[in-house]
Amino acid sequence: MEIGIEDEMVDMSTSPPSNGSMKIARSNDFGHNNKEFMSKETYLRNRYSEIDIEVDDSIFNQNHPLPIFLKFEDVEYKVRNSQSISNNPVKAMVSKVATQHTVEEDRYKRILKGITGSIGPGEILALMGPSGSGKTTLLRVIGGRLLDNVKGKITYNDVKYTPSVKRRIGFVTQEDVLFPQLTVEETLVFSAFLRLPTNMNKQQKYAKVETTVKELGLERCRHTKIGGGFLKGISGGERKRTSIGYEILVDPSLLLLDEPTSGLDSTSANKLLVTLQGLAKAGRTIITTIHQPSSRIFHMFDKLLLISEGYPIYYGAARETMEYFSSLRFSPEIAMNPAEFLLDMATGEVNDISVPTDIFEDQESTHDPSEAVIKYLQLKYKTLLEPKEKENHRGVNTPEHLQVAIQVKKEWTLSWLDQFVILSKRTYRARCKDYFDKLRLVQALGVALLLGLLWWKSSTNTEAQLRDQVGLAFYICIFWTSSCIFGAVYVFPFEKYYLIKERKADMYRLSVYYVCSTLCDMVAHVFYPTFFMIIVYFMAGFKRTVACFFLTLFVVLLIAITSQGAGELFGAAVMSIKRAGMAASLVLMLFLLTGGYYVQHIPKFMQWLKYLSFMYYGFRLLLKVQYSGDELYDCESKGGCRPLQSSPTFDTVNLKGGLKEVWVMVAMAICFRLLAYFCLRRRIDV
Ligand SMILES: Nc1ncnc2c1ncn2[C@@H]1O[C@H](COP(=O)(O)OP(=O)(O)OP(=O)(O)O)[C@@H](O)[C@H]1O
Ligand SMILES: [Mg+2]
Repeated sequence: MEIGIEDEMVDMSTSPPSNGSMKIARSNDFGHNNKEFMSKETYLRNRYSEIDIEVDDSIFNQNHPLPIFLKFEDVEYKVRNSQSISNNPVKAMVSKVATQHTVEEDRYKRILKGITGSIGPGEILALMGPSGSGKTTLLRVIGGRLLDNVKGKITYNDVKYTPSVKRRIGFVTQEDVLFPQLTVEETLVFSAFLRLPTNMNKQQKYAKVETTVKELGLERCRHTKIGGGFLKGISGGERKRTSIGYEILVDPSLLLLDEPTSGLDSTSANKLLVTLQGLAKAGRTIITTIHQPSSRIFHMFDKLLLISEGYPIYYGAARETMEYFSSLRFSPEIAMNPAEFLLDMATGEVNDISVPTDIFEDQESTHDPSEAVIKYLQLKYKTLLEPKEKENHRGVNTPEHLQVAIQVKKEWTLSWLDQFVILSKRTYRARCKDYFDKLRLVQALGVALLLGLLWWKSSTNTEAQLRDQVGLAFYICIFWTSSCIFGAVYVFPFEKYYLIKERKADMYRLSVYYVCSTLCDMVAHVFYPTFFMIIVYFMAGFKRTVACFFLTLFVVLLIAITSQGAGELFGAAVMSIKRAGMAASLVLMLFLLTGGYYVQHIPKFMQWLKYLSFMYYGFRLLLKVQYSGDELYDCESKGGCRPLQSSPTFDTVNLKGGLKEVWVMVAMAICFRLLAYFCLRRRIDV
């Protein structure tokens, strides 16, 4: 075996580094782990010994994945029990007496209970276990997605998780998080342009997408929308493959996949595993959870970690699993797929499996045979397998230059501006259907026509008529404030999962996302009010001068854009669809009441409220634009003509000036956005 490795190493010195690492990894067995790491180390030392880190870096920059040796030891994870009975002292006492649990056990639920393992480049580690055993949780802990309440040691090239490791990890989640409005090809192209290094030109990036589409068999659905919810789109299996393509496109060094084969037929699942094998061969470290693989797939795994209720019961070479269990005197009595047998072991269901009878004698709880089997397997793991693996961890260290290399943060592949150009195209493409929704257009048109007809050729000849027209101005303020707040408040809560996923992969800067989102949405927040005002303005008989029309439009747009900022702020602050809606309606009501139409003379101690309301400034501005204080009205009354400023409607409004209101609103629009960005940062960048 040693000689074999030597031969391969000689061979590899002339072959690309990516292929080499795989050959070594695959040529080793479980039980020779020490040798395995040693041989890799020797190989790596051979490859890199005379190269300093800078040169190394240039190697990594050539798009070869940086080899990652992952070790995890005694990993534990617990979550706080949301319905902790210990909050209720009586219940807590009863439960404590009944179950003899400690307060700690009451308050926390332990999900992972001490898991140890390791994996190197070129290998595929399968995490198996029944539903709820903790596979996804372990994968998320390894991927750095769960950081709190985690105990144990997880190292990547003997270095703890840092943000620099983040960009080397690809994570395919159990649920596919893809934009429903984009086609498969668009999804991959945008991902490629955002994440592939700048030294690749456009053609190379398109070629990479092409290869991925072919590799994953997505040719037939490349121009179909992803869909989801009420939008018909690609099939579940195609969606899964697109999710995988999205990650593998950028050659992550460590690829984590949560149930990649769920929903696929056995041939497609097999094809996918062959693809994963190819990726591993290129020097990547792959960990995948899998429910019930076919025997063909099972034999493609290098290592296997079998989890039962958060405890490991087997860790080692996949092909030695059956041997291990038969050495413990567990063997199937009928022909069985190994995966099926292993799941039976993990759940303690031993029908059609021969079991050593003495295990029931040794255990106290013989009334439940499943529990006895699981306890026995856990014990055997602790005594037979875990010490070996821990010793293996201690005996072998990753070469120093790889330790250093993993701490070097991969630079952003694109500049801020380049990211902005690509992301704004994607944001626009993903949301444009919403922007130019027929229903929205009909709503704006309908309301505009209705208002135009109700206020048809309104005038300001009398006090009552003036009051009516001012009412219309206030309604326009309300309509655009509420439309724009509600149009913006759901954006971040809706896109939360996409954003979290892409930020976890460090795909773009959060500031780029925010600016793209707010600017793209502005298209709708400018288009609809303009369309609306063109109709209402002339039907309702507002002042017919060009300057007055454009100034009124400017004010309405200012209101719309400020409201958009406020909506974004509420959405980003609560990040929940339900709570965002509630917060928006509450604040809207407050703004409405303090806007200056319903009540002009607010008591002094409540006056501060109106200064927070941009509707107050917007409405005043609209009045100042539309009416001039010297203009005469009410000429047919007994007292004769009076200037507009003397009208009780403008009791608290000086119709002169207006610049102050403009600046206040501009400042508010900017402040709301800055606050929204910081809230988003706090909420998303965890
Ligand atoms: N935040 C949480 N709060 C409470 N319980 C949790 C939380 N996260 C995970 N769990 C519980 O931990 C257990 C393991 O969950 P996990 O998702 O890791 O299971 P799994 O092995 O991936 O299952 P499946 O095969 O069904 O996907 C489950 O019982 C789950 O209910
Ligand atoms: Mg899961």
